[in-house]
Amino acid sequence: MRVVDIIEAKKQGREHTKEEIDFLINSLMNGTAADYQISAWLMAVYFQGMTDDETAYLTDAMVRSGEVIDLGELAGSVIDKHSTGGVGDKVTITLIPLLAACGVPVAKLSGKGLGHTGGTIDKLESIPGFHTGLSIPDMIAQVKKIGVAIGAQTQKLTPADGKLYALRDVTATVDSRPLIASSVVSKKIASGADNIILDVKYGSGAFMKTPEDAVKLSEIMVKIGKKLNKNITAVITSMDEPLGRAVGNSVEIIEAIEFLKGNITEGDIAELTYDFAALSLVQLGKYPDTESAKKFVKEVISSGNALEKFRELIITQGGDAGVIDDYTKFPPVKYAYELKSDRDGYVQHIDALKIAYGCKLLGAGREKKTDDIDYGVGVFINKKTGEAVKAGETLCIIYSNDEKKTQSALKYCKEAFTLSDTKPVVHDLIYEIIK
Ligand code: URA
Repeated sequence: MRVVDIIEAKKQGREHTKEEIDFLINSLMNGTAADYQISAWLMAVYFQGMTDDETAYLTDAMVRSGEVIDLGELAGSVIDKHSTGGVGDKVTITLIPLLAACGVPVAKLSGKGLGHTGGTIDKLESIPGFHTGLSIPDMIAQVKKIGVAIGAQTQKLTPADGKLYALRDVTATVDSRPLIASSVVSKKIASGADNIILDVKYGSGAFMKTPEDAVKLSEIMVKIGKKLNKNITAVITSMDEPLGRAVGNSVEIIEAIEFLKGNITEGDIAELTYDFAALSLVQLGKYPDTESAKKFVKEVISSGNALEKFRELIITQGGDAGVIDDYTKFPPVKYAYELKSDRDGYVQHIDALKIAYGCKLLGAGREKKTDDIDYGVGVFINKKTGEAVKAGETLCIIYSNDEKKTQSALKYCKEAFTLSDTKPVVHDLIYEIIK
C-alpha cells in the first residue's frame, strides 16, 4: 500500500477501506507520510467527503493512535459534554459543578484554546492557582471524592487528531463534516465516558454556518458514537451572537459564578445550562422527562449547592476560591472603555466573530500554542440582540491592558453591532436534538 494511492483514491471519490485508513493514520504517526501528502488527502476529503463507514474507521484509527482512558466502574455513570466551539461559550464551566451537585459524576478533559479567546482550561486557569495538569489516576480519584474533575487534554490522547488538526488549520480544511466529526468523537471515546452530550453550534461564530449543516454533522457524530457503543446525544444550538455577555477568560468565569450564585436566571447561558443539565439527567435515567429534571436543576442552584460544588472544585484543584466572593482577586486590567450607542433603537445583531477578533487583539487568545494569554482582558456585552438601546447608552465594555490595543478592538466591536428601528425576532437557542 502507498500513501499516494490513497490520495488518488480519494481524489477520484472512491470509498476507503478500513485497512487504507489504518495505513494512512499509521503513516502519519510514524512519519512515513509527508505533511504535504496528508494535506493533499485532507483537501481531497474536503471536496469528496467520506461515507459514515469511512468516518467511523477514521475515528477508530484516531482513538487507537494514543491512550484510551479507562474510567473503570465510573464509566457508565459519568457524563462528558463537548461543544464544537463558540464565542463566549462558558457552558462547560456552569454545567459541570451543577451536574456534580445534582449527583452526576463529571470527568471532563478540555483543550487549551488556539482561538480568539482561551479554551475552557485557559478560562479556569485565570483563577489564581487553579491547575489542570491532572494525571488520569488523580482525575479518577478526584471524581470519586468530590464528584467532579477537569483536566487539560494531553497529547497522549488521540495524538493523530492533534497532527491532523494542525495541518487542517493551515490548509483551510477545518470545516469539513467528516473531519470535524472524527476529531470530536475520537476525543470523546478516548476520554472514557460512556455518556456523551455534544453541543453542535451553527451560525456566524461557528464552523457550521447553517442549522442544516449542523444537523448533518450531528447525525454523523451520533451514528459513529453509537457504532462505537456510546450513549450519545447532539444538541444543535445557535451561535449567531456571543453566548452570554462576557467574552474573554476571567470575565467569563465571573459570568459563570454569577449564574451559579443564582443571579442569572434568564437568557442564553441560563437556558442552555438548564437544558444540558436536564438532558444529562434524563439520559442517565435519573428523571423521566426534561421538565421535571429542569425543576430539580433550578432547585440545586437556588439551594447554593452548585456554587458550593464549584468552590470545592476550585479548592481541590489548588485555586483561590476567594475569587467567588471577591472578583478583584482575578488578574487586574488597567482600562475599561465603554462603547456608546450613537442612536436610539434595538440591537438587531451582534457579530460573534468580530467580538472574538477584538478579544484576540486585546490578548485574550493565542496565535501559537506557546503564546501567553492576558487573562483579565475581554469584552462585556451590555446590550444583547433584541434589547432596546438609547443614544449614549453603553453597548459593550472593553477591558484592556494596552491603550493601542483598545483602539483596535474598539473598531471591531463597533462593527459587530447592528442597530435597527424595530425589535428583531430572536430565534430559539436550540434548533434540534438528535439521539
Ligand atoms: N472541535 C474539535 O474538537 N475538532 C474539530 O475538528 C472542530 C471542532
